[in-house]
Amino acid sequence: MTSSAPDIRIENLTIGYGGKPIIEDINATLPGGGVSVILGGSGCGKSTLLKNILKLNPAMGGSVYLGKHNIFTLKKKAFSCLKQRIGVLFQDGALLGALNLFDNVALPLREHTKLKPAEIAEVVKAKLSLVGLEKFVDYFPNELSGGMRKRAGLARAMVMDPDILFCDEPTSGLDPINSAELDELLLELKKRFEMTIVVVSHDLASMQAIADYVLVLGKGKTLFNGSKESLMATDDVYLRQFLDRKGEKRESSRITMPHLDPSVMRMDCNKLLGDLDNN
Ligand SMILES: Nc1ncnc2c1ncn2[C@@H]1O[C@H](COP(=O)(O)OP(=O)(O)OP(=O)(O)O)[C@@H](O)[C@H]1O
Ligand SMILES: [Mg+2]
Repeated sequence: MTSSAPDIRIENLTIGYGGKPIIEDINATLPGGGVSVILGGSGCGKSTLLKNILKLNPAMGGSVYLGKHNIFTLKKKAFSCLKQRIGVLFQDGALLGALNLFDNVALPLREHTKLKPAEIAEVVKAKLSLVGLEKFVDYFPNELSGGMRKRAGLARAMVMDPDILFCDEPTSGLDPINSAELDELLLELKKRFEMTIVVVSHDLASMQAIADYVLVLGKGKTLFNGSKESLMATDDVYLRQFLDRKGEKRESSRITMPHLDPSVMRMDCNKLLGDLDNN
């Protein structure tokens, strides 16, 4: 990787589990220095793609290039070096519950660098300030809100000054204000640091706010790749349904429910609660 913000080139990639493909023949170039959003319905294979790009899952065919390096043919040691230039924000922040925020964020520096404790403290504090958590260094993950955990995960993903940042569903489970703040933070990181950012999401508002490039997956294939403007203008029926948030009509009223005797379904609490119908 020579440029500090490399392209990610995906060529004829097939991903799946146990010999069964989930998405076949993915071809895309996620632009260096930009934000790419991988969009698609739940269960379509977005996280699986991320795991394949990180070599956490074996690909079934094809190639992935980070900059000029084909990660599938790279020797183990070279890939370990490359991985140190990649930051990952996992869906739940993936913080270690037994460590406080400072130690969670310091962990990659302690494992992979020869920095002295004072230097580590300086970097950790700077990265926690970046995400607005500098006052929470002593907090443990279970003492943080969902949004704070995401930001803490982002601080840890950023701690080694990565060239590539992957975020899996960074706004899921957040309210609209926290989601918008996280989007702003990602845009700020893009502006301030030369980085290729890849965000896996099914949040359309977030995609509209941050994407330079969009890859839409679904039905076992690539449904779209290109700019968000051309995606929003598409007249493809399935993509429109997704973009306009229209579900398939399900005839749920026709499904008959089994009729069971309530006295069997529930504990007899009338003596304890009184007869609700009579009160
Ligand atoms: N370890 C696994 N072994 C076998 N199948 C798996 C495994 N992990 C995921 N799958 C299957 O792969 C498919 C894609 O899952 P994946 O988690 O990549 O979807 P996703 O697009 O990230 O969904 P979501 O938006 O809900 O996070 C699903 O059908 C899922 O059941
Ligand atoms: Mg997922």
